[in-house]
Amino acid sequence: MPSLQQTAPWKALTKHWQAIHHKKFQIQEMFQKDPQRSNQMRLQAVGITLDYSKNLLTQDTIKLLIELAHAAELLDSLHKMYAGACINSTEQRAALHIALRNRTERRFIVNKQDVMPRVRTVLKRMAKFVEQIRSGTWRGYSGKQITDVVNIGIGGSNLGPLMVTTALGHYHDGPKVHFVSNIDGTHIIETLKPLNPETTLFIIASKTFTTQETLTNACTAKDWLLKAYDNNLKAIAYHFVAISTATEKVAQFGIDTNHIFEFWDWVGGRYSLWSAIGLPIAIAIGMPRFYELLDGAHAMDQHFETAAFRENLPVLMALIGIWYTNFAGFSTQAILPYDQYLCYLPAYLQQLDMESNGKSVTKAGKPVDYATGPVIWGASGTDGQHAFYQLIHQGTQIIPCDFLLSVHSHNEVSDHHLKLLANGLAQTEALMRGRTYEESYQELIKQCYTPQAAAALAPHRVFSGNRPTNTLLVDKFTPYTLGALLALYEHKVFVQGAIWNVNSFDQWGVELGKQLAGVILKELQSGIASNDHDPSTHNLIQTIIQQRSQS
Ligand code: F6P
Repeated sequence: MPSLQQTAPWKALTKHWQAIHHKKFQIQEMFQKDPQRSNQMRLQAVGITLDYSKNLLTQDTIKLLIELAHAAELLDSLHKMYAGACINSTEQRAALHIALRNRTERRFIVNKQDVMPRVRTVLKRMAKFVEQIRSGTWRGYSGKQITDVVNIGIGGSNLGPLMVTTALGHYHDGPKVHFVSNIDGTHIIETLKPLNPETTLFIIASKTFTTQETLTNACTAKDWLLKAYDNNLKAIAYHFVAISTATEKVAQFGIDTNHIFEFWDWVGGRYSLWSAIGLPIAIAIGMPRFYELLDGAHAMDQHFETAAFRENLPVLMALIGIWYTNFAGFSTQAILPYDQYLCYLPAYLQQLDMESNGKSVTKAGKPVDYATGPVIWGASGTDGQHAFYQLIHQGTQIIPCDFLLSVHSHNEVSDHHLKLLANGLAQTEALMRGRTYEESYQELIKQCYTPQAAAALAPHRVFSGNRPTNTLLVDKFTPYTLGALLALYEHKVFVQGAIWNVNSFDQWGVELGKQLAGVILKELQSGIASNDHDPSTHNLIQTIIQQRSQS
């Protein structure tokens, strides 16, 4: 395969962007020129409608982007993932999260073995445990029913379950589920404050069971529990379960091996909410609804595998992202869910996208000579409108946005939902339409400004417009549609990583900081700062040591 930049479609896309840019392409004009644009740039699959017509592109752009996908052998990468090939080459692992939500008899082979029997066994164990907790047959050591579940994990062992549990808040009918991730003692202390140890269950979620934050929080939780039980170690078995691939390490920590829910190295941390890592979700909403979540994701997996690129939601969204990242030079992307339940979606997608594609070498270890993963950020609407949308509308950077809307709300109270929808749609319209100087000026005159005052104020009220957005519309954010939506974003990230030829499934960039933290921790503990650091870090360590010794 030639280097990406040397391919014909890449060269054509570079010229195509220059032409679009040069001709001052206006999305609004494209709607006038092509009455079919809105219908043709709209795609529906698995309960999700994607309207991508308000983007800086034409049908020719899509055609060229699809050619780029073919030149980058996307289909081959897709088949390799579905075949359980070792696509995470730096860690010698498959990436088979699709097997976790496989709802058919299809086999998924890793190292010549079908993983499906093990997947089903763990799901059955989860179902039994979830039922015991929710029905109250599982009791704490003193015989009381579990009322609160605390998930201790970080990164993929936190963000996925936290986001989904919150997103499906409408369906909660089990014990209250809490999440502790940060090593900052405030997180666990504040979480535990209102809880009763006798009615609290801890889930220690860690793929590797070596993560400092999780193990430190787990130790604090154990101390808190044992204090309430006069240090009786027998209580641990009633109040602690673990989810991990490292069963020996869990046993060393003191958790009963019968209380370990297993998953496997072919499940990446940020792709793991579909595995036993989803246990807190299932406890909150019940196993049937957890299965619905898997069903939605599975339906999207099938769509991704079989739909032609032109009709393929993840492929199209990925290609639009590539268009902006590599040809337009837009380096960030905003995720704007108009749904309070989806408030953690931007943070979840941040890890999914940035940890997967924040890479600067190819799979072969050669430096890339093009941009890769964009900065992903956002917040739920309408809050964001009153905070950072100013920059999206009038700032000097162009920020492509994904607006996520639902036709119906779980909380149809008075006209809240219509107002929410009106705001979301209005933002996409305003971002595209903009407002000229003349329009601003005339508006001010109508509002009885003097011509002089209107002329002074009008430039501040000009919106350049022509700012690109995708709109994703679902009927309602149910477990099924949420599952489909998350799988859509997972595959979008996969497609981009495949085209950029980076390994989307490793995360070596998190290592160095962890190593150095270990060194610094020892110095903070001993009160002796070594001279091995740069002067800035050394001085900061010194200052902290000095100030802590005085208090
Ligand atoms: O440090 C990053 C990371 O490795 C993530 O990829 C992962 O999701 C998180 O830490 C937690 O890891 P673990 O589940 O092994 O505790």
